Amino acid sequence: MGNATPGLALARLLASRGVFTDPLWHRAVLAVDRTAFVPDTLYTIDPAHPGWECPVHRTDTRWAQWVAEDYALATQVDDGHPTGPHGRGRAVTSSLSQPSLVVAMLQQLDAAEGHRVLEIGTGSGYNTALLCHALGEKAVVSAEIDPELARVAVDNLDRAGYRPTVLDEDGAGHLETGLGADRFHRVISTVAARGSIPHAWVGQTWPGGVIVTPWEVGTRPGVLVRLEVGEDDTAHGRIVGEAPFMVLRSQRPDSRRLRDLVDEEDPGKQAGTTTVNPRLVAYEHPGWQLVLGHLVPDLRYAVYEASEERPECAGEASVYVAAPDGSWALGEYTPAGGPYVTERAGGRDLWAEVGAAWEEWQRAGRPGREQLGVTVDAGGTRLWAGSPAGVLRPLGSAAVAGRR
Ligand SMILES: C[S@@+](CC[C@H](N)C(=O)[O-])C[C@H]1O[C@@H](n2cnc3c(N)ncnc32)[C@H](O)[C@@H]1O
Repeated sequence: MGNATPGLALARLLASRGVFTDPLWHRAVLAVDRTAFVPDTLYTIDPAHPGWECPVHRTDTRWAQWVAEDYALATQVDDGHPTGPHGRGRAVTSSLSQPSLVVAMLQQLDAAEGHRVLEIGTGSGYNTALLCHALGEKAVVSAEIDPELARVAVDNLDRAGYRPTVLDEDGAGHLETGLGADRFHRVISTVAARGSIPHAWVGQTWPGGVIVTPWEVGTRPGVLVRLEVGEDDTAHGRIVGEAPFMVLRSQRPDSRRLRDLVDEEDPGKQAGTTTVNPRLVAYEHPGWQLVLGHLVPDLRYAVYEASEERPECAGEASVYVAAPDGSWALGEYTPAGGPYVTERAGGRDLWAEVGAAWEEWQRAGRPGREQLGVTVDAGGTRLWAGSPAGVLRPLGSAAVAGRR
């Protein structure tokens, strides 16, 4: 006879940590054996091979330890084709998400019997199985961009007793489910949108429906966004937590680092000054970092503190910023205050953009993450403070120009 509660150990662990608010998802975790969705090979960072994700096989004692914990498990590297020796890979490209975060996201989704749900990022199929248990397999459609992962997920789900619709497709676009109605009451993405949240998800959700997705901007880990879809093809919602996830394939950030973009020998670089404090880019405030990441997309920065051996330079720092279009700038911070000496090259004035973002954040009352929200419509993804009317705008946008 099969085990009636195959997920008991994980459910007890999560319950002991106070994860469950909705018994629907407690029952689902009890009913589904996550272990059955874990592949034989996981990946981890190994200090012996810096910069590489190294394989760990099921026969390694760490495999079972990690699987028993509330850990995210890296299950694929380099889109399934490890680029390094001995199966090592540069980047994790699929994972089994951390169970407590999986449950938190499902609880935010607020799904109930009778709802049809679209999941983006099938991965192993574990989250899909939880959805099937809670809502019935006919209510669940899941999209996975990687054909091999989609195939394995279908097998995993089948062995667990579930046959939802799994589409081997890019879930960032409009999906043809082949089931007639291509609209859903709930959309959950288990892969992060970076920069813009796909408007296709709004179009595939019934008015009144809910979209839950990780959202990443700038250089900080992603946040969890819960959007409610209106009658007008627009969705608004709040940031409801943290959600560090890998990003949609089509939105993967440019892998060039700051040092690949800064060319100090550029004959076209210009010297000047700025009143914008260069250290603002590193100011550790979650609300500010979201605003900066959204208003100055894909900005990289590095802060080089002055040597301790030069007491006359105490507190000074050289701060570099760069953008994927090749624009970069240096700001020489000194605790004496501005104006600060700069150099810059490329088409954009990055210190001006950072300064404008800072002014927007001040004008909005320095909102924290809890006061910030997101709107997704045909025009893109906007960040607002307080209410959807309080859109935060970048330098040069019409509203900013009009206000000043
Ligand atoms: C964090 S994993 C998903 C975890 C999964 N829900 C589970 O329970 O195992 C993210 C998955 O999203 C997939 N993915 C990335 N971009 C995608 C896209 N545009 N459409 C569909 N799936 C995508 C990746 O291949 C990866 O398998």
